[in-house]
Amino acid sequence: MQIRRTNHSLNFEKYPTFEKDIDPKQRAWIEVRGKEIEKNVRQLRSKLSENCQFMAVVKADGYGHDAKVVSEYAFKGGASQLGVATLKEGIKLRSSGIEKPILILGNLYLKRDLIISFKNDLMPTISSIRECLICNNIGKHFGRKFSLHLKVDTGMSRLGFECNKFVQQFEKIKSFENISIEGIYSHLSSADDNDALDPSSSAQLQRKKFQKLLEQINVVKNHNIKIHLANSAGMLLNKDFHFNMVRVGLSMYGYSPQEKIDKNLSLEPALFLKVKVAFIRIIDKGVGVSYGGKFVSNRKTKLAVLSIGYADGIPRNLSGKINVIHNNKLYPQVGSITMDQMMVDITGSNEIKVGTTMVLIGSDGDKIISPLDWARKSNTILWEILCSFTNRLPRVQVD
Ligand SMILES: Cc1ncc(COP(=O)(O)O)c(C=O)c1O
Repeated sequence: MQIRRTNHSLNFEKYPTFEKDIDPKQRAWIEVRGKEIEKNVRQLRSKLSENCQFMAVVKADGYGHDAKVVSEYAFKGGASQLGVATLKEGIKLRSSGIEKPILILGNLYLKRDLIISFKNDLMPTISSIRECLICNNIGKHFGRKFSLHLKVDTGMSRLGFECNKFVQQFEKIKSFENISIEGIYSHLSSADDNDALDPSSSAQLQRKKFQKLLEQINVVKNHNIKIHLANSAGMLLNKDFHFNMVRVGLSMYGYSPQEKIDKNLSLEPALFLKVKVAFIRIIDKGVGVSYGGKFVSNRKTKLAVLSIGYADGIPRNLSGKINVIHNNKLYPQVGSITMDQMMVDITGSNEIKVGTTMVLIGSDGDKIISPLDWARKSNTILWEILCSFTNRLPRVQVD
């Protein structure tokens, strides 16, 4: 059989073959708007007293936004410190050149990990005398004080010294000569409750417990020690929760932690999720779409196949419950969301083509889709949606 050769003028050799050469917007991506982070931090900081510092919480890769980019813009907005969850997250930021204080909010309990933390100038959270002792030995060995924050449990029942025993334990901790107590903190369990401003709410009870403890150990007037209790919701409750530092995540990313948020704030989301149309097909009336064929077309239907799925962090239980935006119009997603693709009903549209970009989260014209809509529909919280986006989605910085 004779093989026909076509004489294309295309130069096949010029096309790249490396992963680094692939356009980050080739399929689906997260746009990170650093300027919004900067503006949000500046706005939130304007609610704090002058002597109150802002710790930007950038754990879980900056709530899915890219911790390095978030940190850079948070500092521009006036943040003075960073909070991460893990040793690795801290080291990654240090290696990227960040020199400002970094607190590891999770627990390090092995000597080895605490040494690594020390060597990278990362402050660990300390919840026991045992951990204090290890840090003291490390400081002694290296001839330099080990900077750390002590955590007290006032009602979260997670990390931290037991509240009732802390006053006594603090006396012992003060005797360790090779540690430097840079901060004392606690964490609120229910600051986003609707009743959080009531004097008997758990947030208020935690605050009072914490305040009493600080008075008992006589650190209230010690300005060298950072005292912190408030997350986003706590910070937005009122100044009683601020002490001399707040630890803010969610609001810095542009979202409200509760409905009754300070109405004078106008936070702007910094994350957009975008995807390209990979294929278009037309199906007849009565045809099933995707696994299980649970969605059946009730008319001749034009479908756009989007290159994104649950392997990118889109909850599968959102199947058939969300919309996608293009050019100020909403289009319903139909059929089960699959690992790598999802289908959208674009019947009636002539402008959506293969290669068109659609918005899954973010805004286009006056249409807005918030990750909060997704959280409500998939019965979870906003934080989980943001942290679920996987590394398969490139983070693209936009100013
Ligand atoms: C210890 C600690 N502090 C602060 C934060 C920030 O919370 P938010 O994102 O609600 O501001 C978190 C987040 O989970 C946390 O675990």
